[in-house]
Amino acid sequence: MSQTTLFRTTERIVLGAGAVNSIASEIQALGGTKPLIITDPGLVATGIIDRITNLLNAASIPYTCFDKVEADPRFELVDEVVQLAQAEKIDCILGIGGGSSLDIAKMVSVMSTNPGKVDDYFGIDLVQEAGLKTILIPTTAGTGSEVTPIVILSDHHEKLKKGVVSAHLFPDCALLDPELTVGLPPAVTAATGMDALIHAMEAFTSINANSITDMLAIQAMDLIYNNIRTAYANGNDLDARLKMLEGSMLAGMAFANAGVTAVHAFAYPIGAEFHIPHGIANTIMLTPVMEFNLIGNLEKFAQIALIFGEGDDAMSQRKLAQQGVAAVRELAADLNVPQRLSDYNVTAQDIPILAQGVMKVTRLLANNPRKLRLEDAEAIYRQVL
Ligand SMILES: [Fe+2]
Repeated sequence: MSQTTLFRTTERIVLGAGAVNSIASEIQALGGTKPLIITDPGLVATGIIDRITNLLNAASIPYTCFDKVEADPRFELVDEVVQLAQAEKIDCILGIGGGSSLDIAKMVSVMSTNPGKVDDYFGIDLVQEAGLKTILIPTTAGTGSEVTPIVILSDHHEKLKKGVVSAHLFPDCALLDPELTVGLPPAVTAATGMDALIHAMEAFTSINANSITDMLAIQAMDLIYNNIRTAYANGNDLDARLKMLEGSMLAGMAFANAGVTAVHAFAYPIGAEFHIPHGIANTIMLTPVMEFNLIGNLEKFAQIALIFGEGDDAMSQRKLAQQGVAAVRELAADLNVPQRLSDYNVTAQDIPILAQGVMKVTRLLANNPRKLRLEDAEAIYRQVL
């Protein structure tokens, strides 16, 4: 490849059981004096937010808490939280939760220092100024948002998910603590873990993959594939939880630089229109998109099967690649993740519009190992109706 490679990630990563105990010193190291905690009501109910605020109180760090982040957040929510941040004179951001809370935290950080409204910034590299110092604490092993320069928000008027991409969206610090993920229900562990696995698989087969992102994606696939069943079956297994967090972070590092591909492009329209959770939408679309993509990079898809411990080197690349598809189908069944769009009331009449929605996700389709036409998109949706 003649292009040069640019690799970026989050500058500071604190990882391990009990990592969250260093929250006060991490805030102080960034020069923060009054953080705004951004989270959702579900996390408050688990007691995790109390654990964090107790640590802040013990270090005499005053804070404000916004705990009303919704799933698939509307972009207008960012402007509301920025107003709160300004009224409370906060000087750093603490995002705690799943992808929705982390993405709102990242966007509030940059909207506190840049003019205008959120919808001025949908697109690539439109954010001019660095945001407020930001620490992110993921409580799912899924989005990898703590190491990506991407925010995904919902436009409820256009029924679309829209992205903001900017190097200013990397947080200053990511704290990854498996103790915060042990309470995740099995269904959420499954859906978010599948999202993370798909990030690694898509980064690995993206046409923008390079040796750095491949190294990260391979390790991520190994960690996630070999621990997701344990984390699902026994959520208290701290070792499996740690490996899932490591895997989702490495997958995030890989796709932040190589991009994700058509599986995510197919997941966005059904997520926005039918409110299918992101990880489930991706899992439903994974096998038909893999089957379509296989011939675009047989070597990499064959390698995926070997990473999953399926088949052996003596098999043809094509056979191995197909074995990889069978392996993820079996994984989704083991994890009880729905496999059909009809489980979410999608009908044949919806498919033409949904397929048009896929074709609009040009940012991701540009990374796909096989060029996709509108009729391909319709056929792929029909396979999993
Ligand atoms: Fe994702």
